[in-house]
Amino acid sequence: MQQLAVRRLVSRSLLLASVFVLGSGCSDSRGPLRRFLLDPGHRHEILQESLLSRENDYATLRLARYGSMDSQDWLRLPEFLPATIEVSAADQSHGMTQAAWSVIDVSLPAADEDEPSEQALREALRQIGKTAFFRYPAQLVSGFEAIRRDPLRAAEYGLWQGRTPTHQQQLGGLLDVKLPDGSVGIATSCSTCHAAAVSGEVIPGATNSALDMGKLAIDSGQQAEGPPLAWGRGRLDTSDDGVDNPAAIPDLRVVAMQRALHHNATLHSNLLALAVRIETLLITTYRQGVRPPPSLALGLAVYLWSLSGELPPEQSSENQSVGASLFAQHCAHCHLPPHYSGDPVPLAVIGTDPALGISRERGTGWYRTPSLRSAKLRQQFLHHGVLPSVAAVLDPQRLLHSYRDGNHGPGPVRGHLYGLTISASERAALTAFVETL
Ligand code: HEC
Ligand code: HEC
Repeated sequence: MQQLAVRRLVSRSLLLASVFVLGSGCSDSRGPLRRFLLDPGHRHEILQESLLSRENDYATLRLARYGSMDSQDWLRLPEFLPATIEVSAADQSHGMTQAAWSVIDVSLPAADEDEPSEQALREALRQIGKTAFFRYPAQLVSGFEAIRRDPLRAAEYGLWQGRTPTHQQQLGGLLDVKLPDGSVGIATSCSTCHAAAVSGEVIPGATNSALDMGKLAIDSGQQAEGPPLAWGRGRLDTSDDGVDNPAAIPDLRVVAMQRALHHNATLHSNLLALAVRIETLLITTYRQGVRPPPSLALGLAVYLWSLSGELPPEQSSENQSVGASLFAQHCAHCHLPPHYSGDPVPLAVIGTDPALGISRERGTGWYRTPSLRSAKLRQQFLHHGVLPSVAAVLDPQRLLHSYRDGNHGPGPVRGHLYGLTISASERAALTAFVETL
């Protein structure tokens, strides 16, 4: 009890110290990344500025707890940085692997008189993020023990196998984690959902459109009550709102090109809003008992932001084509170049299934206009991932009950009626153009 009080006191004086530094005008010389790390009050401001709605549970919880500077402040929670080992397909044992337990090095170049340039800081953060993407526990899970013992079953649930950019052979981004009580748990990493393997090489940020978390939960007996987790592949219900409204796992390679975060446009996007989003995600995942090191949350954001650099370039030679002029006429006022993303659209205007958009957890009454950059690389479209291709989005047959080409059961797939009334050959030209973006 006393220990707790001491810790509170210490963290309070730390908070006061950073407020004092801020008040003394030193903040001006700090770059935005350094300021983010040192100034909790500033992080609260970033949160406030980025929320599209302050009404939903997502917003009210965060506004009350994140950088609130009172005794409830999440930033007073202890940091969670456990030792982990990547699970690999070759690992048939019971927790025994060749690899060694290790803790991610989250230290950064020191800020002193010769403050390292913002560029050097950014690069150090990016490296932390790159490691954390594959090695930091995003969520402790049960039910994966069977897969651990029989990695062949992993493919059944859509877990990838391959070599990560951090040069590890890994199975579905899974990790063994040393927990504070000394026991060993299994966790997913960001890469479990947000990476895919092509010819044995793991592509960070790509959607794992094969992943079937709902089936895994049912098969492992995790689900005792509530609606069946029949989400299908590539999507899951992340919101605790009592409604079955799964969201498609988004392609994070384009996250820097989105104007809003989440299909629901919960947050206006920029690099620091993304860092807040990741930090608060990890706090809520661990039931508000621990928090990630700030440099790890910001590092993940910097890393994800950099992924757009790995996308194939746009094939701009198509600019004069029929498809390009159809796009300019029907689409470009919402999907604005150069990123082909745009402002959110009210649910009643876009007309797609509103179940996710009205969620009391993260709903705003709007869906974001997603970036169409590299749309060709995706396997699932719209917020609920129900369509398999750009051509399917532009196919008027999807509006019928008889439609059978969707990812998650029969039609109709309603809404987003743009481009559906032009001729079949024009739709083909428009599809071809969108696939060059
Ligand atoms: C179990 C699967 C799963 C894991 C693990 C996971 N995510 Fe996600 N992620 C999702 C889903 C589903 C969404 C879509 C949520 C929505 O829009 O409401 C999402 C959305 C996001 C977004 C918003 C992207 C956008 O286009 O708006 C970011 C950023 C993100 N995740 C980062 C991360 C990071 C960083 C980690 C690791 C700490 C992580 N995720 C772990 C499933 C996952
Ligand atoms: C009124 C603004 C608006 C117009 C006009 C518009 N879109 Fe969209 N588009 C959206 C919104 C909003 C979504 C997301 C809807 C959802 O997730 O339910 C979307 C989603 C998409 C998607 C799915 C992308 C993904 O990753 O899920 C594609 C493809 C697309 N639009 C192509 C087009 C094309 C091609 C046109 C022109 C024929 C067009 N859009 C016109 C707003 C618009």
